[in-house]
Amino acid sequence: MQDDEGHAREHPREERLGTPRVHLRSTDSTNERARTLALAGAPHGTLVSADVQTAGRGRHGRSWVAPPRACLLCSLLLRDARQGADGPRASLLPLIVGVAVCDAIGPGARLKWPNDVVLGEGLAKVAGILVEARPQDGWAVLGIGVNVALRVQDLPAELRARAASLGRPASAVEPLLADLLAALAARLGERMAQALERWRALDALRGREIAWGEGGHGSRGVAEGIDDEGRLLVRVAGGGEPVALRAGDVHLSATG
Ligand code: BTN
Repeated sequence: MQDDEGHAREHPREERLGTPRVHLRSTDSTNERARTLALAGAPHGTLVSADVQTAGRGRHGRSWVAPPRACLLCSLLLRDARQGADGPRASLLPLIVGVAVCDAIGPGARLKWPNDVVLGEGLAKVAGILVEARPQDGWAVLGIGVNVALRVQDLPAELRARAASLGRPASAVEPLLADLLAALAARLGERMAQALERWRALDALRGREIAWGEGGHGSRGVAEGIDDEGRLLVRVAGGGEPVALRAGDVHLSATG
């Protein structure tokens, strides 16, 4: 095995995902711990996991709530985010992580753009992904939370309606982590076009009516899949070209 510069390499980058690993019984946020380790020079593949988080972070500045030992809570540090044959661009990395989480969970898991992992027609969320990157320093932290053994009734009332659980025993958390690391290694190493094709096959929003903007009540249209930049294409009333929504710019809700 050789690296990009032709030097012999004992272990390809992807084999090193999850090593070294720090497991914490309780922490504020595994993403925050991984970020601190990144700033201190931790190597590519470093993993932080936890039984419980006291300040778990979600997308759009929201918090991520998970009862102790019921969920997979982990953050993986990638250095030099250029991976695989044609390397995921930073904007596509969160989508590719979503594909890997679906791979690890198995049949039934689908994606609600950009990377909520959902189950069933109700699109109840079983896993969330928060990628926090510092491109100028060449690293990214992939934060992943999966409701493995969570009982939805244990969540605060306002979260219950949109949450799902795999309904597996707590002993399934570690095997799921192993499957997730293998899936990430495979997806990060493959050609971008292949990962995008898989994302499209897992698209739970395609053909559904969605709303975005202020509280999800600003604009409406029908989701038509993603373009090669990972933007969501939406057909709005009145014809013309579909609107392309950029992840991070919009809050989305599926209405139909
Ligand atoms: C979302 O809003 O959907 C993203 C949720 C991401 C939660 C995970 S749990 C492990 C990691 N640490 C955090 O603080 N957040 C991510």
